[in-house]
Amino acid sequence: MREPKISAGSFDLNKFLFGGYETDIITTFYGPGGSGKSNFCIMVATSQARKGNKVIFMDTEGGFSSDRFRQVHQGTKEEIERDLQNILLLKPTSFEEQEESFQKLLNHVKKGDVSLIIIDSIAMLYRLELGDAITAKDNEKISAINRNLANQLRTLNEIARKQNIPVLVTNQVYSTFTQNPEDQNLEKQVSMVGGDLLKYWSKCLIELQNFRGKRKLVLRKHRSLPVKELAFEIINIGIRKRGLF
Ligand SMILES: Nc1ncnc2c1ncn2[C@@H]1O[C@H](COP(=O)(O)OP(=O)(O)OP(=O)(O)O)[C@@H](O)[C@H]1O
Ligand SMILES: [Mg+2]
Repeated sequence: MREPKISAGSFDLNKFLFGGYETDIITTFYGPGGSGKSNFCIMVATSQARKGNKVIFMDTEGGFSSDRFRQVHQGTKEEIERDLQNILLLKPTSFEEQEESFQKLLNHVKKGDVSLIIIDSIAMLYRLELGDAITAKDNEKISAINRNLANQLRTLNEIARKQNIPVLVTNQVYSTFTQNPEDQNLEKQVSMVGGDLLKYWSKCLIELQNFRGKRKLVLRKHRSLPVKELAFEIINIGIRKRGLF
């Protein structure tokens, strides 16, 4: 039996999460471009790789950078090259390829040597494919694409629950504006792409915000912790907690 939690690859985040990411669930990071989603993925991937554990990193938008891995790793050149071998990169460029990458992922999981699965990001290629189907008013295709995404999440959830392999997923957000009927002001709401599906399947939801250069992480959903926030900054070796001022 594996540990119930794995290190997030950051002292401050481990403290905030009382140990790190839970191993039997999907954890989802969501936030706008540049908010730090890929940084959090690279931090936990590096931490596992350093321990000699194999990581599947599905990178759908080129967010994985070996330079960033090196910075976060901090080891010698030899150690870094050795540990990079523990990262199995899958790089689908269409939703169809994402499906194929999923099959590869399943084959690796069956072999039994995977310690962490990262999908950065899960819904970007889905959104592109869905956009085309909506333009073509192809209802059958729209249903099929939605079914595929749901299946991917169901599969990931099953792997986490049954095999105790932690799954980290990232997702983009889009903003919508609604008019407040009382003062007519526009209010901004941030929603996730494929939102309800991800909210349903993730037992831990973390929102990343970047407002005028001030970065914040909000724990939106957790099985044993309350909603709470952590102000942070991105530094060369990962992230660190920021004080109030
Ligand atoms: N060594 C470093 N020191 C400080 N900040 C860094 C360092 N490396 C990267 N960053 C910062 O990380 C930020 C990008 O974060 P990241 O790529 O994780 O965002 P993201 O949410 O994944 O964005 P996207 O949605 O575009 O993929 C940039 O603001 C960049 O300046
Ligand atoms: Mg990214």
